[in-house]
Amino acid sequence: MSNPTTYSSVSTPSVEPKTLNIGSITVPLPVVLAPMAGVTNAPFRRLCKQFGAGLYVSEMISARALCEGSNKTDMLARFADDENPRSLQLAGVNPTYIGEAVRRLRHDDRVDHFDLNFGCPVRKVTRHGGGGALPYKRKLYTSIVKAAIDAAGPVPVTVKFRVGINDEHVTYLDAGKIAEDLGAAAVALHGRTVEQLYSGEADWSTIARLKETVTSIPVLGNGDIWEAADALRMVDETGCDGVVIGRGCLGRPWLFGQLAAAFRGEPIPKPPTTAEVAEIMTEHARLLVEWFGDYKGVREFRKHTAWYLKGYPVGGEVRGLLGRIDSLEELTTLLDGLPDVILPEENYRVFRGHTRGPQTVSLPERWLDDPFDDALADAAGDSAASGG
Ligand SMILES: Cc1cc2nc3c(=O)[nH]c(=O)nc-3n(C[C@H](O)[C@H](O)[C@H](O)COP(=O)(O)O)c2cc1C
Repeated sequence: MSNPTTYSSVSTPSVEPKTLNIGSITVPLPVVLAPMAGVTNAPFRRLCKQFGAGLYVSEMISARALCEGSNKTDMLARFADDENPRSLQLAGVNPTYIGEAVRRLRHDDRVDHFDLNFGCPVRKVTRHGGGGALPYKRKLYTSIVKAAIDAAGPVPVTVKFRVGINDEHVTYLDAGKIAEDLGAAAVALHGRTVEQLYSGEADWSTIARLKETVTSIPVLGNGDIWEAADALRMVDETGCDGVVIGRGCLGRPWLFGQLAAAFRGEPIPKPPTTAEVAEIMTEHARLLVEWFGDYKGVREFRKHTAWYLKGYPVGGEVRGLLGRIDSLEELTTLLDGLPDVILPEENYRVFRGHTRGPQTVSLPERWLDDPFDDALADAAGDSAASGG
């Protein structure tokens, strides 16, 4: 693969590079790959890491499925032998399963950092009280975070959440404070409510408020970082200690190279040409095949092809064919036929991934009646498949 630093570059003002401390883990740059179901598997994490230093988090893993011995979940929770640190996101609505999952993973020495998911906006999760619905029930939220931290021992636990359920039911300041008081190593906020889903713009002022409230551990900001300059702006505007990158890196693992340069005050590498993109795509597909085998690896790669070529002036026909490839050879043949063109500057910010919303939030009956009751979420919320 080409050395990303050879791309011609645009300049950025010099800033002090700062590290990010997640418990005992020192991340050389304040950059985190957001957990993304169906995307941030071991091959994608490895690819991103080749571009820049950061913390690269797994897909969401269901604590209950893990405890019940699901093979699919166990596979999702695997790390490459040389992956370091091994950062895993757990989701669940039951403190017992969360505690047990953490204990098992720790006992088997499979994880160096746990992240807890309290931001999932998906109907099948929130309607049972899970994901972004859960922090509303302060006691339940407290017991889940505590169960994880108690079981994790010296392994750091971080907590990721949204602003709240909707503008009338805002939970992020409580969620942050509770996590800090319980001993979480950091908190991450996606500046949208569950109701917003992915619509509108993330409200970065909430990240600034959280930073004022949570003062003894790092506060990470998340939402709408599409370019390296956005990351610097988020740090500047909110005072956050690090940035979490989701959709901006879909089909753009080189964004981590641009972020590394930006945080070091170096010239930001320009986006790759299609010939360079083709090399990166081939590497990504090869890593997926190595990890999942030929059949699943190639199929997993199909969804990435459209993201990789978004904004580049290449024909619709080849995009269609790439989305249906059956082998690495087919991929190479199609990529060999691409014209070598640059990404037009007006397309540097072409959005990718989810944009849906707002939505009507689906919640268990009477969920909003009392934030402080002892509700247990519907156990069905735990059976949500990993990565869903
Ligand atoms: C395809 C996809 C899958 C996601 N899966 C998860 C997940 O498993 N766990 C989680 O906490 N957030 C998940 N998210 C949310 C992201 O981590 C992130 O919070 C959100 O996309 C906002 O950041 P962005 O604007 O940088 O994309 C997912 C987002 C996308 C687009």
